[in-house]
Amino acid sequence: MLVSGAGTNLQALLDASADPSYGARVVAVGADRDGIEGLARADRAGVPTFTKKVKDFTSREHWDRAMADTVANFEPDLLVLAGFMKLVGDEFHQRFGGRIVNTHPALSPAFPGMHGPAEALEYGVKVTGCTLFVVDEGVDTGPIVAQAPVVVEDDDTVEALHDRIKVAERTMLVDTVGRMAREGFSITGRKVVLGR
Ligand code: GRF
Repeated sequence: MLVSGAGTNLQALLDASADPSYGARVVAVGADRDGIEGLARADRAGVPTFTKKVKDFTSREHWDRAMADTVANFEPDLLVLAGFMKLVGDEFHQRFGGRIVNTHPALSPAFPGMHGPAEALEYGVKVTGCTLFVVDEGVDTGPIVAQAPVVVEDDDTVEALHDRIKVAERTMLVDTVGRMAREGFSITGRKVVLGR
């Protein structure tokens, strides 16, 4: 799993996977920065962590390769990005393509990018939500695995809205990643189907 911040989505997965019947466990947590709560959460759960900062490499490609090499060492079946604020590059797509999922705090294809909750509020939509998708080369454009709606309140702030989206996001992530692990999934074009 890769994180860049608070790691509440990671915590939800760590909590769920404490029950063996969940069918998946977090084998390692990587980050692009240190001192973040996401890494501390992994540490407390006894899950190995690693940090690779872009600025410590001579190029973005070298960072990408070093990250991908480290991820590969843990032999994950699925790579979950949750609040990971970097785009993964070619090396990731080649090695883990079709097995990387990311969570986005908006209902795709609306409001891709870094400011999903703010842009939804600004646009005046009445319903927004969250999306779990299979990562492709675009920004939040990959095939959709799951979505959950969140109603926008008249007096919402970006923070209040994002907090409610994150509640829905954690449930969506735990439910869907568990099903992906237990039941498998297939991707045909843009269509993702859970189950064998
Ligand atoms: C999530 O809403 C994620 O979709 C967005 O940033 C938030 C990360 O939350 N990109 P956390 O670090 O899992 O608490």
